Amino acid sequence: MVNKILIFGGGYVGSSLSTLLAQFYEVVLIDKDEKKVKLINSRESPIDEPLIGQYLKHKKLNLLASTSFGDHIESTDLVILALPTNYDEDTNRFDTSILESVVSQLNDHNTKAKIIIKSTLPIGFTNKIKSLYPNLSIIFIPEFLREGSAVEDNINPSRIVIGGTKENTHEIVEVLLKISNNSPQVLYMGSSEAEAVKLFSNTFLAARVSLFNELDSFAFEKKLITKDIIRGVTSDPRIGEGYCNPSFGYGGYCLPKDAKQLLANYEDIPQGMLSAVVNSNNLRKEFIAEKILQKSSKMIGIYRLVMKKSSANFRESAILDIINILQKAGKEIIIYEPLLNTDQDMLKITDDLKYFKAASDIILANRIDEDLADVTDKVFSRDLYGEN
Ligand SMILES: NC(=O)c1ccc[n+]([C@@H]2O[C@H](COP(=O)([O-])OP(=O)(O)OC[C@H]3O[C@@H](n4cnc5c(N)ncnc54)[C@H](O)[C@@H]3O)[C@@H](O)[C@H]2O)c1
Repeated sequence: MVNKILIFGGGYVGSSLSTLLAQFYEVVLIDKDEKKVKLINSRESPIDEPLIGQYLKHKKLNLLASTSFGDHIESTDLVILALPTNYDEDTNRFDTSILESVVSQLNDHNTKAKIIIKSTLPIGFTNKIKSLYPNLSIIFIPEFLREGSAVEDNINPSRIVIGGTKENTHEIVEVLLKISNNSPQVLYMGSSEAEAVKLFSNTFLAARVSLFNELDSFAFEKKLITKDIIRGVTSDPRIGEGYCNPSFGYGGYCLPKDAKQLLANYEDIPQGMLSAVVNSNNLRKEFIAEKILQKSSKMIGIYRLVMKKSSANFRESAILDIINILQKAGKEIIIYEPLLNTDQDMLKITDDLKYFKAASDIILANRIDEDLADVTDKVFSRDLYGEN
């Protein structure tokens, strides 16, 4: 029976799982970031997810955060690893070193607890690490939450994919079902297949975004009405209406890195789609930058660095690469980003919206906001639906 759960990593995945699971189990969240640990212990959200803050404040939770696992490891029944697997541009693969080091520490403590990996992995990683540590019980269960709705997505998961058999994982599935409201289907498969599900799902989404972005580039160039074309295309139920709002490029923590990792996994296997998905995003950003460079604006304003409307992080925001291109072309840039109020490196950043609007000759906005209602004549955006 599961009573106590140890979760490593208090980011989007770890924080949302901790708050939900702590309603039913004793949960200890381990994060090396002291600030995050302090925030959780004073019942404040360590990340920008409104529902996490509400759960921490208003729900009765059996939750403790700490920077080290100390002797909790001896008494835990389940370990969940929600650690970063950033893409390493030098090796062209995920950097799995943090995960590997934590698994090695768990092995040193001879833990008998089942270990769930929730981090996104290169295909084949779980089998590799299982063969290195045959005494550990390691199961990969991909996470499908979206930033901005991390808690909601764990309460109403689209599906639960288990990289293991029904017989070996029934206790774990029970734990995951306990926090969900919608009786999701549970799919059992090998760990490599489950790793592939995660990477193919995100690459599919990246491909979809890229296709609609390229549709928009085409319409823009040919002076056609993008919205009419999208409406006609997405009215086919096989295509469907979601995820079709043009942007400056797909971004965020997961889509860019997962598409690149899947491409890396192909090695010698022929493919054309995957490199196209990665390449298309770069071309889209170059296209947008080129359109801006063609205008004779003196001061280019950038409205927000965040990728999504309600997000508070800039990880892999498409606008960052566009800023880079504009800077290389010698353009003067001012950025409005209330989450950052000091100039960084060579960038002029302000949190004064009025000043920003007055100083900018043109304003690039990946996503339109009410803030810009009085300067629509200056705004350059491809946001057609006002959604992410
Ligand atoms: N963010 C998403 O939308 C999302 C969705 C699905 C899957 N994932 C995957 O889940 C994993 C985690 O993503 P995230 O967004 O929660 O990451 P994150 O970067 O938001 O958080 C990771 C946390 O781990 C902590 N950490 C780093 N090293 C540590 C260590 N040695 N011990 C303890 N804590 C440590 C960091 O301080 C940080 O708080 C990644 O593999 C990611 O690809 C993320």
